[in-house]
Formats: sequence, structure tokens, C-alpha cells
Amino acid sequence: MSGARYTIREVTKTYRAGTPHEVRALQKVSVEGYPGEITVVYGPSGSGKTTLISLIGALDRPTSGTIHLNGEEMTRFAEPALARLRRSQIGFIFQNFNLLPGVPAWENVSQPLIPRGMGERARRERARELLERFHLGHRLLHPPEELSGGEQQRVAIARALVGNPEILIADEPTSNIDEEEIDRLLACFTELKGKGTTLFVSTHDPILRDLADVVWHLKGGRLIEVERRSSASLPDRQGGPPETPAGGAAP
Ligand SMILES: Nc1ncnc2c1ncn2[C@@H]1O[C@H](COP(=O)(O)OP(=O)(O)OP(=O)(O)O)[C@@H](O)[C@H]1O
Ligand SMILES: [Mg+2]
Repeated sequence: MSGARYTIREVTKTYRAGTPHEVRALQKVSVEGYPGEITVVYGPSGSGKTTLISLIGALDRPTSGTIHLNGEEMTRFAEPALARLRRSQIGFIFQNFNLLPGVPAWENVSQPLIPRGMGERARRERARELLERFHLGHRLLHPPEELSGGEQQRVAIARALVGNPEILIADEPTSNIDEEEIDRLLACFTELKGKGTTLFVSTHDPILRDLADVVWHLKGGRLIEVERRSSASLPDRQGGPPETPAGGAAP
């Protein structure tokens, strides 16, 4: 599998298939994601960004096609195995945050640590560290409904980072936060990349595009271009060049 973390082959996602409201959200997408890289998924509204990163994050299944993660076909995994994968390896920052209402910020952030058996005190401490990093140390006890949109987004970011995931997926993570917070987030992404985390970020934001090692351009559910931006950080692929050449167009 040429050292790829993800190998995506002919992936199609059709919502409401066979009905008059059928939507072909993704059409025959084939591409690879490499460890320790930042991949930006770029495209206009409705182009399939959230759909694609949800498949990568094991939150949904393709209608057809395969996704291999570290050489294993995750599209064949039963739900319990997918849930384990999400818990143990993947951090996800949702476009709509997906925070638990009525639950204090620190508890929201610490949720991913519960299945790891970490005690409440340690979880609270770890959550506090992250929330302070995102300037929310004064909002530890506030539930999401008492926070602004940007604050909720920062809680969602902290929750995705709390378990040091190997794979971090962020859906439009800068849409609600100001420039200073964006800088902090970018520093975080760069630090995670330095530790070998594989990142997928969907965005319209040119600042985030500049951070990318590779940009997947989506349009109307099709991958129209794979743009490699940093030749300096090309991964060691052992097995030779990737099957989809840098800058190459998808079928
Ligand atoms: N659950 C669903 N049922 C039916 N159609 C859906 C569903 N989710 C998404 N779609 C449709 O699939 C297409 C791709 O949606 P997606 O959310 O992946 O786009 P996006 O690129 O993330 O857009 P945005 O930039 O607005 O977030 C859109 O046309 C959308 O209306
Ligand atoms: Mg989206």
C-alpha cells in the first residue's frame, strides 16, 4: 500500500439513493493520505468535504468503493470495530461542534478519556490544560449553551485534541474563531504534525490551505485535483511513488 495511511479507492456516497431526492455527494474518489501530513480538503459549499472526511473518520460508510487504513480495509469493519477505531485513533472536530448540552466545558473536553479509564481528577486536569491553551480557563464549568459560537468551537477543538489522536480530522475548524485563535490552532496543527499526527482539514480558508502539505480539490462530489504543496516534506513511501501522482487529476 506504498506507505499510505489511507488508501481511498473509487469511493462513492449517494444519499437517499433510488428516491427522487437522490444526492450523489461523492463520485468515484480515489486518493491516498500519508502519515504525518496535513491534507486540506478544499471546495465550495456542497462539494462533498464533510461527506469525505466523515468517511475517513469512520463516522459513515461509503455507498461503494473501499477505504484502507494502515493496510486494513476499514470499510469492511463491523460497527464495534469502527467505534473502537474512532475512540482509540481519531479526533474529530465537527462543523456543528456536536458538544453535549448541559454538560460543563471541561467534561465535554474530557469525554474521549473516559473509555481509557482515566480518573475524574486527571481528566479534569488534562481538560483544563487544553481549555486554558485556547483561552477558556474561565469557562470550565459552563455548558455549551452558555458559550458563544467561537467558544464552543474551541471546546470542540480541545475535545478532539485531548486524547492525542493519531489522526485528527477537522471540519471547517476556523469558521467561528478570530485571528488570534486561528494562529493558536495552526500552531497546534503544526505541533501535532511534528509528532507524526495525520491531519485532514476541510476549509474554504486560504490560511489553512497555506498550511497544507497536500490539497484535495473537490467540486460537485468529484476530486478534480491533488495539489502537493511541500515537496520538502514528501513522506518516505518505501514502496515507490503514490498511485495518484502529485498534481494529477482524478478520473
Ligand atoms: N444526510 C444527507 N442527506 C441527503 N443529502 C445530504 C446529506 N448530507 C449531505 N448531503 C448533500 O450532499 C452534498 C455534499 O454535502 P457536504 O456536507 O459533504 O458538503 P460540504 O462540501 O461539506 O459543504 P459545506 O462547505 O457547506 O459544509 C450536498 O449537496 C448536501 O446537500
Ligand atoms: Mg461541510
